[in-house]
Amino acid sequence: MAVDRNIERAVAVLRTGGLVAFPTETVYGLGADAGNPAAVRKIFETKGRPATHPVIVHLADAVQLANWARDVPEAARTLARRFWPGPLTLILTRASGVSDTVTGGQDTVALRVPSHPVAQKLLARFGGGIAAPSANRHGRVSATTADHVRREFGDAVECVLDGGEARIGIESTIVDLSGKGAALARPGWITAGEIEAALGAPLAARAADGPRAPGTLAAHYAPRTPLMLAEGDLAIELAANLVRQGKRVAVLACSARQPLLQGLEWMAAAQDAAGYAHALYASLRHLDESGCDAIIVENPPRAEEWAAINDRLARAATGSFVADET
Ligand code: TXA
Ligand code: MG
Repeated sequence: MAVDRNIERAVAVLRTGGLVAFPTETVYGLGADAGNPAAVRKIFETKGRPATHPVIVHLADAVQLANWARDVPEAARTLARRFWPGPLTLILTRASGVSDTVTGGQDTVALRVPSHPVAQKLLARFGGGIAAPSANRHGRVSATTADHVRREFGDAVECVLDGGEARIGIESTIVDLSGKGAALARPGWITAGEIEAALGAPLAARAADGPRAPGTLAAHYAPRTPLMLAEGDLAIELAANLVRQGKRVAVLACSARQPLLQGLEWMAAAQDAAGYAHALYASLRHLDESGCDAIIVENPPRAEEWAAINDRLARAATGSFVADET
């Protein structure tokens, strides 16, 4: 009952051009009515996101594709049938009428049908598309709980729907179908191999002149504390050296065992990719708030199911050595 009342409130906020944070199976989204450019602009202001970065439009089901995209290739329908609702975003040629505010002025639109029951309910009740980037300040760690969202934005977001911890924990896989063939624009929980198996064809390399996906900027997903990636025992050596220099160091370990050292904030990550992805952003937030001078992350395995995790960690490491992007 309470959930339904909250959904009704969220729908009312969306209809009046306000912002609603909502859970998806990947991460929380910061949503606005995708058909209302003034409302979508509020997302950019609230996140501190450059206006040229397009946002994903979330839909209740694949039937709505035709309202948002034109010349939809058969490959898009194949992927939608196989993976929607779920953690997959498709970049397609936009239908006329899709606002520049949503697409960042590009001729493409990113579409996704999420599977989280709260997102599903919200979308079904709202009826239209909900434009939503991840519910975090631009360039920072994504939110995987309602509490993360509240701490990120305080009162700036009118309505936060609480759907518990996001199950997957990292953002959707993005496949670009707006050019010739299909190309991977952002790795996610659905692997490149699974996409290729569904298509029965290899993914193409991304065209240099293809649509920009700014979430693929080198620096992103970054905690405020400098973050370094290191291999196995080297991570421990690095941590020990910093501790000897009087620094407080946090370690997100994978297989390395905790050394006997004062001044180390130690966190053991899950050994499986699903568990690791699920906890990754909450772990980074926790370590970021531990008051340490540096976060050292032991490189996880390189196998394909770890690709999205390795991608996010590399960007978090880059981002932490770049001054705030915005
Ligand atoms: O799992 C997810 O995808 C989450 C949940 C909330 O759905 N959303 C998310 O949104 O990660 P965001 O804005 O943080 O990342 C969306 C990515 C960005 O890299 C953006 O540039 C790209 O999608 N994108 C959106 N629209 C695009 C378009 N028309 N063409 C190319 N890239 C686009
Ligand atoms: Mg994001």
